[in-house]
Amino acid sequence: MNNRELFFKHIAQTSSAPIALEIVKAEGVYLHDAAGKKYLDLIGGISVCNIGHRHPKVVEAIKKQADEYLHVLVYGEFIQSPQVQYASLLAQYLPAALNSVYFTNSGTEAVEGAMKLAKRVTGRTQIIAFKDSYHGSTQGALSIIGDEYWRNAFRPLLPDVLHLEYNSFESLEYITERTACVITETVQAEKGVYAPTLEWMKALRKKCSETGTLLILDEIQAGFGRTGSLWGFRQFDIVPDVLLLGKAPGGGMPLGAFIADKKWMNQLTENPVLGHITTFGGHPLCCAAGLASMRALLEEDWIAQVKTKEKLFKNLLIHAEIKAVRSAGLLIAVEFENFEFNKKIIDACIANGVLTDWFLFAPNCMRIAPPLIISEEEIKKACEVILKAIDEC
Ligand SMILES: Cc1ncc(COP(=O)(O)O)c(C=O)c1O
Repeated sequence: MNNRELFFKHIAQTSSAPIALEIVKAEGVYLHDAAGKKYLDLIGGISVCNIGHRHPKVVEAIKKQADEYLHVLVYGEFIQSPQVQYASLLAQYLPAALNSVYFTNSGTEAVEGAMKLAKRVTGRTQIIAFKDSYHGSTQGALSIIGDEYWRNAFRPLLPDVLHLEYNSFESLEYITERTACVITETVQAEKGVYAPTLEWMKALRKKCSETGTLLILDEIQAGFGRTGSLWGFRQFDIVPDVLLLGKAPGGGMPLGAFIADKKWMNQLTENPVLGHITTFGGHPLCCAAGLASMRALLEEDWIAQVKTKEKLFKNLLIHAEIKAVRSAGLLIAVEFENFEFNKKIIDACIANGVLTDWFLFAPNCMRIAPPLIISEEEIKKACEVILKAIDEC
């Protein structure tokens, strides 16, 4: 059997129609398949490959670490240079209160850890999240995602979860002294890219402070430069109590984190001891790769170019069939009439060497979240292919 046949026979399928490209190489903003075809990657592994595929410094760091040690002991027992160096670099680029990093395997594990932390710190149980937000697929994270279609099949889920309207001042009234935490995406990605107003974010921060509720910002898509600043919350002039990272921090390796003040993080170390346990979270290879990728992101001026590149996409993506283009930096949703039309365009783009897809909660919107290193020439080429696909569909 060839790989394609083995894929359908032995790999658990997550949808009835996987893209099923057989990738043999990835470099920069390009993927290469087994048939020798090259694809301009407009989704970067879903907001993962912010500095492109296989950045040479990331590859070098992985090779160096592989020559030293791989897994040695469950998280938090041994002093491992890639972990401590990466945690200190993160702390250096975060507000003073975000100084203690718990590395996880994934975004959803960071969400789980943060919810547990909020319960310990506040002694409360209520968790408030927002409609149409996505936070992950483990059962705790699933309980708080804002779409009943995804939650319903797996009930019973976590109790005492309240879903409110995002970006609504009325919602803030429901945050009270029984609320352990409010968890929100800095920009709602899977809804099809909706950014809240500055005023609402500030009011949310204020209400959480007044009620002693932890504000948890999920920057699993918005972080690491994607929206035009290193952290999305910088554009709202607020500081969260807990920051969630995932996707991009590993530079292409699996890594997430929840980050808070040490005085709170310490509450996960006692009563019970090991309040959050992970074997592989913060794996040395992932932290070495992540550290190299964050250094590369800081050394180059890719983040400074995000807004210009966003504008270029928006100037070029004009067509009668495009209902709206919403964006937060290089996180862009191109809205069409319905899923069927969007899917036809996506398929035509892939056939013409441009890889894109749709959003979980907005199947009528095309996802554009390329590596931040994409050039202006590549943006023009990608938009040409998209517009041609629309004309032909
Ligand atoms: C905003 C947001 N939060 C959390 C997650 C979950 O991350 P992971 O898939 O790494 O568990 C995702 C994944 O798409 C996400 O977009």
